[in-house]
Amino acid sequence: MEFKGQHILSTKQFNKEDLLALFEEARKMEEVLARGGNDQLKGKIMATLFFEPSTRTRFSFETAMLRLGGSVISNPDMMATSSLRKMESLIDTGKTVSRMADIIVMRHPEAGTVHELATSSIVPVLNAGDGPAEHPTQALLDVYTIWKEKGRLDGLTIGMVGDLKNGRVPHSQCRLLKHFEVKFVFVSPEALKMPDDIVQELKENSREMRVTENIEEAISEMDVIGMTRVQKERFSSEEEYKKYAGLFVLDVELMKRAKSDAIVIHPLPRVDEISVDVDSDPRAKYFDQVHNGVVLRMALLSKILT
Ligand code: NCD
Repeated sequence: MEFKGQHILSTKQFNKEDLLALFEEARKMEEVLARGGNDQLKGKIMATLFFEPSTRTRFSFETAMLRLGGSVISNPDMMATSSLRKMESLIDTGKTVSRMADIIVMRHPEAGTVHELATSSIVPVLNAGDGPAEHPTQALLDVYTIWKEKGRLDGLTIGMVGDLKNGRVPHSQCRLLKHFEVKFVFVSPEALKMPDDIVQELKENSREMRVTENIEEAISEMDVIGMTRVQKERFSSEEEYKKYAGLFVLDVELMKRAKSDAIVIHPLPRVDEISVDVDSDPRAKYFDQVHNGVVLRMALLSKILT
């Protein structure tokens, strides 16, 4: 695809060539970042509109923009302090903010809302998470992490563990990884299984997949152990959430069953699904992913804005 001027709303937009081109650009950005950045996007302004909590994603986008010499205007709490409180529509917000910024990054608790704002924006809009639907740039940095760490994607067995129903990250990961010869192992309780439409997409791409609730047994075949949090905020009640909280915990004991060259990824934040003593295991890559997120987003901003 032509990245220049594009909205990034869904991982469905990317094919294999797009991904590899983006990863090569991100690799170049590793060097740019190591030198402290450059002035490539000097004069450009990014607006970050967040209607849901975030630590990594918003700071990562903002860091990427600043490292490329651009500037940021930010509203980290749109729900509380924007004109939406005065009943302004998302459409009018899009019309307005896009007449000030050169690019908009948005997160919202409802699926489809970022697409809605994009219809009225005259500048590119990037989806930083829309409810349980998608989180394209997190999945891009996750797949970049796998590509960088393992040196390839084809031939790998990718495990996804946790809340595969409500987790927007595993949804987006599947839609990117389906372009490669990977095998999927989904570990979740039946009630939190990967949605049928995504399973269907993987079948259409002839991808092998296995579904299990037994992480002790499944972990030994994974090249990538993809952990995710049970998405508390998507449950109807605390009782409903508690049924599934703490079901899968990756600890030092469980890591003994994993391949010696496996990697553990997690978009973070974690609750209790990875015990803290796994952090010092060299296979744990979840804090390295934070660095990868910055270079991946530098690559994306550069490709869209220049
Ligand atoms: C994820 C998200 O917001 O979807 N976090 C992130 O962006 N790094 C994962 C999560 O909240 O569980």
